[in-house]
Amino acid sequence: MIEVKSLEFEYDSFCVRVSFDVKEGEVLTLLGPNGSGKTTILKCIYGLLRPKGCVLIDGKDFHEIPIKERAKVVGYVPQTHNPPFPYSVLDVVVMGITPQLGLFEVPKKEHYEKALEKLRLLGIEDLKNRPYTQLSGGQLQLVLIARALVQEPKILLLDEPTAHLDFKNQVQILDIVRKLTRSEGISAIMTLHDPNLASLYSDRIALIKDGSIVAIGKPEDVIREDLLEEVYEIPIRTFKLNGYRFILPACHPS
Ligand SMILES: Nc1ncnc2c1ncn2[C@@H]1O[C@H](COP(=O)(O)OP(=O)(O)OP(=O)(O)O)[C@@H](O)[C@H]1O
Ligand SMILES: [Mg+2]
Repeated sequence: MIEVKSLEFEYDSFCVRVSFDVKEGEVLTLLGPNGSGKTTILKCIYGLLRPKGCVLIDGKDFHEIPIKERAKVVGYVPQTHNPPFPYSVLDVVVMGITPQLGLFEVPKKEHYEKALEKLRLLGIEDLKNRPYTQLSGGQLQLVLIARALVQEPKILLLDEPTAHLDFKNQVQILDIVRKLTRSEGISAIMTLHDPNLASLYSDRIALIKDGSIVAIGKPEDVIREDLLEEVYEIPIRTFKLNGYRFILPACHPS
């Protein structure tokens, strides 16, 4: 379980102020416009930014844990990533395990096996020998997700995990995240831009505007015309299908 308590962070002209928690096995999606603070919130939780307030994981202050130890607990998939060296895909995924190794320990066969298992899970085993610098945006995203999963973290932070993915892969990744969180008792916090996918694949959604939570709750309680119009400032219509609530912009193309 992760508890984000009175988290506060300020850039020159922007401020984030949020409190929320995510239980074991639960997926919380941060949904909100560009620049509303979603990435900032994830970076504050992971400790890349130094916020006020605290982040408790199973009751322990996460920011008090040494950086190397933190990677054993939390897997972070960033929104953007520029691969520095042409490592092979398999090596990049194995690097996710490095925090669990001793000082002079090198990854062993079992670690490579684990990495291959995650590549298989994400349907990209055929990329294992490809240089990481020569991947498409979507392939890169899948590799970063595999690298986060190989750590077998308790908490997963995913910043726009579907951003570069095709329609099938978007659904596949969200399905994997949802299933893994349930089967492994992981708490996942992700950001998405598609309210319909958020509605389908989240246990709860937090609507974010100007660095604050406008509403948080089950998709059916949050994916509401009035709340979404407040957040996105466009006319919106919702409709129900198979028990899920979906949205469409109510703008007419001119
Ligand atoms: N390093 C920085 N220095 C100053 N301001 C920043 C910095 N990074 C982000 N910001 C500002 O903070 C605000 C929130 O940015 P953030 O990246 O958290 O938004 P976001 O909700 O993730 O947006 P997007 O959906 O476009 O990814 C924006 O106004 C952004 O310009
Ligand atoms: Mg962002």
